[in-house]
Amino acid sequence: MNKAIVVGSINMDIVAFVQDHPKTGETIFGREVKYFPGGKGSNQAVSCKRLGSETLMIGRLGDDAFGGQLLAFQQQQGIDISGVRQLENTATGAAFITVADSADNSIVVVPGANALWDDGFIDELTIEQGDIVLAQFEIPDTVIEKTFNKAKAVGAMTILNPTPVRTINADIRNSTDLIVVNEHELAALSGREIDVHKDDTIFNGAARLHQEDYGTIIVTLGDKGARLVQAGQKHAIAARPVSAVDTTGAGDTFIGGIAAGLLSGLDLIRACELANIAASISVTREGAAASIPSLDEVNKLLRKRGHM
Ligand code: RIB
Ligand code: NA
Repeated sequence: MNKAIVVGSINMDIVAFVQDHPKTGETIFGREVKYFPGGKGSNQAVSCKRLGSETLMIGRLGDDAFGGQLLAFQQQQGIDISGVRQLENTATGAAFITVADSADNSIVVVPGANALWDDGFIDELTIEQGDIVLAQFEIPDTVIEKTFNKAKAVGAMTILNPTPVRTINADIRNSTDLIVVNEHELAALSGREIDVHKDDTIFNGAARLHQEDYGTIIVTLGDKGARLVQAGQKHAIAARPVSAVDTTGAGDTFIGGIAAGLLSGLDLIRACELANIAASISVTREGAAASIPSLDEVNKLLRKRGHM
């Protein structure tokens, strides 16, 4: 069976649960601090794995205590960590997160080891035809370019999640098959105003990216579900209403769900439905990777909704 390969970040999430996010210059009390395994790359790898795929992680950690804990966490998940290196005298990536009572978060990421790659990693990486390669924007562009170019050369599929958003260079754009963005990233990349209450603004923004050779576009909209735009086709995936406690990593859960769904033979719309259910479960629990459901849990809900 083909596998998911995630090239991306691994962070320790230091999460303060607060009533409201602090404003500039303000000091506030938090209720509690918790440490969770995070990083968009690692979260997506955990999602691929829990939702049924054999998963290989390519990442960089420091040699501090966080690095060891995060490596052990990935291994416990059953992820192939042969592509993860711990760098000497280096700090592991960290994310400073506040989660408010509204369940939404604000995040500061300090990359540490996630920014430090040598050119050699790509020679050690084996990608096979039919594999799915995922990347996000918490690692340098050159790492994504090399990985995606190798993926396309062997006939693997590539999924890009350009978060935190920056300009997507032509090399990465041309080797990306599927791009997954939220409404803010869609606005930044398309230069269009996006109103989450108006589907036509979302479809128009996505169609604009589509014209610019971005391939298939999926827009995730939190409690408004997701929208899919591909050659001549538009599709809306409705959200499953839940009472959310922590939305951190919901997008990562969704993206891993798409990869796992596709690898298991689902078409893209079905894969999005699976991903959507998985993400809806993840927001009802604290933490990013820690909150990602198993395939069994997702399938039970899908059966209830008559999807299978
Ligand atoms: O997408 C959520 C993730 O963003 C967190 O786990 C944090 O580490 C940041 O990378
Ligand atoms: Na969560």
